[in-house]
Amino acid sequence: MAKRLDLNQLLPAESPYLAAMSAAAKDKLSAAWRSPSNIAIVKYWGKHGEQMADNPSLSITLSEAYTETSVTCRPQSTPGDPEVQFLFDGQPQPHFEKRIIGYVSRLRSELPFLTGCVLEIASGNAFPHSAGIASSASAMSALALCLLEIQYAFDGRTRDAHFFREVSRLARLGSGSACRSLYGPVCLWGEVSSVPGSSAEIAVPIQDIHPVFATMQDCILIIDDGQKEVSSSAGHTLMREHLFRDARIAQAHRHLDVLLPAMRTGDLETFGAIAEAEALTLHALMMTSDPSYVLMRANTLEAIRRIRAFRGEHALPLYFTLDAGPNVHVLYPLSSADRVVLFIRDALRPLCVDRKMIVDRAGTGPVRVDG
Ligand code: PMV
Repeated sequence: MAKRLDLNQLLPAESPYLAAMSAAAKDKLSAAWRSPSNIAIVKYWGKHGEQMADNPSLSITLSEAYTETSVTCRPQSTPGDPEVQFLFDGQPQPHFEKRIIGYVSRLRSELPFLTGCVLEIASGNAFPHSAGIASSASAMSALALCLLEIQYAFDGRTRDAHFFREVSRLARLGSGSACRSLYGPVCLWGEVSSVPGSSAEIAVPIQDIHPVFATMQDCILIIDDGQKEVSSSAGHTLMREHLFRDARIAQAHRHLDVLLPAMRTGDLETFGAIAEAEALTLHALMMTSDPSYVLMRANTLEAIRRIRAFRGEHALPLYFTLDAGPNVHVLYPLSSADRVVLFIRDALRPLCVDRKMIVDRAGTGPVRVDG
C-alpha cells in the first residue's frame, strides 16, 4: 500500500519543482515492478562515455529469470542527498547496496524527487542467487521502472509509450544490458540503419520478428555457480585497448545485418550460426585481452561439443550462446522441445553443478506488480 507523506517535508517549499507537482500524484509514493533478464544474441562488449556501447546489440527477453523490486519513498527530516535502505530477499546486501547508492546519486539530476528522500528498496530474484547468473539486467531495469514510476506520480503524469523509452535510458546508466529488458520478445540497443528509431541511448523492440523467436526456449545450464573472477565491467574496460576492437565492432554490425532479416523470416539456421559465433567471439575477446582471462570451464566446452554433435546427428535446430561466464544457454524452438528436452536431461544436465538448470523462454517484458 502506498505511503502518504507531506510533500512539503520532502522538498524546500520554494522549489519550483514542488510547485509544479500535481495534487493527484501526492500520495503515490511507492512502486513495484517485475522485470526480466535478457540473453544477448549479438553481444554488447566494450563501452565508452556514459554507458554508451561500442557496438549495437540484440537480445531475447527472458521470462522466468526476473527480479522483483519495490521502492517506497519517504521524506528525510532534513532534505539532502537521497538515502538508500536496501534489502535483498529480506536481508541487507552491502555489495549491491553500494552499487545502488552510486546509481541513485547519479540519477539525482534526472529525477528531482530523489532529493530529500529516503528510499526503501526491497528486491528479490526468481532465480537462485547463487546460480552464477548475471542479474544486473533484471535488477537495474526493475529499479529504474520503480524510480521513474514514482517520478511520474510526483509529476502527475500517466505512463505512456515515452515512459518505457525513458526507463530504458535510465536503466542503461545502471547496467548497459538492462536497457534491453524493457520490451519483449526481442530488443535492439544501438543505431542500426535498417531499424528506424534505433538508438545508441535506448533499446527499442523489434516489432516484426517471426513467431518462432517469440516462443524461443532457453535452458540455462549452470556449469558453475561461483562468483566470476573478472566482472563484466572490467571486461568492458579491457576492450578499450583491445587489439581486435575495431574488427569486433565491424563484426557486430555485420552480424546484425544478417541476423535481423533472418529473425524476420524465421531462418533458424542463420540465427543459430550467429548466436554461436557471437558467444565464441565474446570469450575469444576475453582470452585475447591484456591481461587475458578465461571464464569457460571444461564442462562449458563439453556442453558445446555435445550440442553440436546432437545437432549434426539429428538435424534439429538447437544452438548455444554464452554470457560473460561459464554457463551455457541452450536455445531451441518450441516445436523441437519434445526431443531436445530429453537430450538436455540425459546429456547436458549431468554437466551442471548439482544438476542445476533454469528452464526459461522468450518473454513479453516487465509487469507492474503493485496494481
Ligand atoms: O550490462 P553489463 O555491463 O553487465 O554487460 C553485459 C555484457 C554481456 O552480458 C556479456 C553481453 C550483453 O550484451 O548482454
